[in-house]
Amino acid sequence: MGGLRFLTGGESHGRALVGIVEGIPANLLLDEEYINGHLQRRQRGYGRGGRMRIESDRVVIMGGVRWGRTIGSPIALYIENRDWQNWKRGMSVEGRDEGSIEAVTRPRPGHADLAGVIKYNQRDIRNILERSSARETAMRVALGAVARRLLQEFGIKVGSFVTAIGGVSFEVSTELLNEEELESLHTEAESSEVRCPDPKTSEDMKRVIDRARKEGHSLGGRFVVFATGVPPGLGSHIQWDKRLDGRVAQAVMSVQAVKAVSIGEGYEIADRPGHEVMDEMFAGPRESSLAGIKRKSNFAGGIEGGITNGMPVVLKAAMKPIPTQRRPLRSVDIITGEEVEAVYERSDVCAVEAASVVAEAMLALTIADAFLEKFGGDSIEETRRNLEGFLREIK
Ligand SMILES: Cc1cc2nc3c(=O)[nH]c(=O)nc-3n(C[C@H](O)[C@H](O)[C@H](O)COP(=O)(O)O)c2cc1C
Repeated sequence: MGGLRFLTGGESHGRALVGIVEGIPANLLLDEEYINGHLQRRQRGYGRGGRMRIESDRVVIMGGVRWGRTIGSPIALYIENRDWQNWKRGMSVEGRDEGSIEAVTRPRPGHADLAGVIKYNQRDIRNILERSSARETAMRVALGAVARRLLQEFGIKVGSFVTAIGGVSFEVSTELLNEEELESLHTEAESSEVRCPDPKTSEDMKRVIDRARKEGHSLGGRFVVFATGVPPGLGSHIQWDKRLDGRVAQAVMSVQAVKAVSIGEGYEIADRPGHEVMDEMFAGPRESSLAGIKRKSNFAGGIEGGITNGMPVVLKAAMKPIPTQRRPLRSVDIITGEEVEAVYERSDVCAVEAASVVAEAMLALTIADAFLEKFGGDSIEETRRNLEGFLREIK
């Protein structure tokens, strides 16, 4: 096994979400408030629905930390679903409380509803939608916060910003952004309700969200997610599943409703001649972590041949519009076979802002995994020695 592994469990209206991450070295400072700060970031956003007002997520660390530091054992996390109070009968583990809740039989286009009931041989779509719901991403963000805390120790930062919502966009070409510029776009995004660094575009985005809410439909959008301070040498060219471009793309693509991911300017460079879009090399300072070689651009998004090259790791992602919407979509009842309107569950109008925070968590977990694979170590001190030894060597 390489660096980190993690799993989440729990249903959207069940008692709680649980998560476990294994492989974090001992002696890392970690507390619940740090994780809660990131959970709150996921809950913000202008287009969110009523659920976010009910849930104010707080994590409980159930294992792996003693007196404020990790001890090398799996880190076990728990987040209570406050909404469970209203669902105790309908989502109870024991018995079958007849009449407490109606079965869901009208699948929503764009959700796991139909494919899920067919696959798992179910007659109540609730048995699918409870787990396919993006409520699960709260735990991913909590686990991602643990990974971030580790990366922070080694000067690696993860951030994101929203570049488009419902067709209103703030175009940025990421190939010319250095680490400070990426980080400052993230900082500006943090004070925008739509996580867009540009105030004027933020206002326009809020207007299209207002309109969508009024008209009963939903919106998608695009965001950039990045990591700075990443040492060269993470991932590998030697096998398809070791390539870091594939691993980070899967991690971000696995976020519910994300439908496209590019590494750096992946789509744009396809239309341009080669000499314009390769990141040429120049002699640079010896003391840099790039072994005395400098780049003036980052079309590659920090990964060449599946290996980090010392430039910021940059991904762009696109999220489809939220499938559930007040304006009814056509569907077919799975029991009666009649044409009906899809069921409406209380829902976000737009969640691109939250998705970008979830994508940060997934990128942090993936980079931490590759980082520990390369530098290993059972304690932070050992990991640090391994990293420093490698950096000395390449200089
Ligand atoms: C943070 C976040 C919040 C979401 N909120 C909703 C929501 O309120 N209603 C909804 O129908 N879909 C929501 N989605 C999208 C669905 O979870 C997703 O479209 C669905 O599970 C089907 O998966 P797929 O789109 O990846 O195929 C959200 C996604 C994310 C990342």
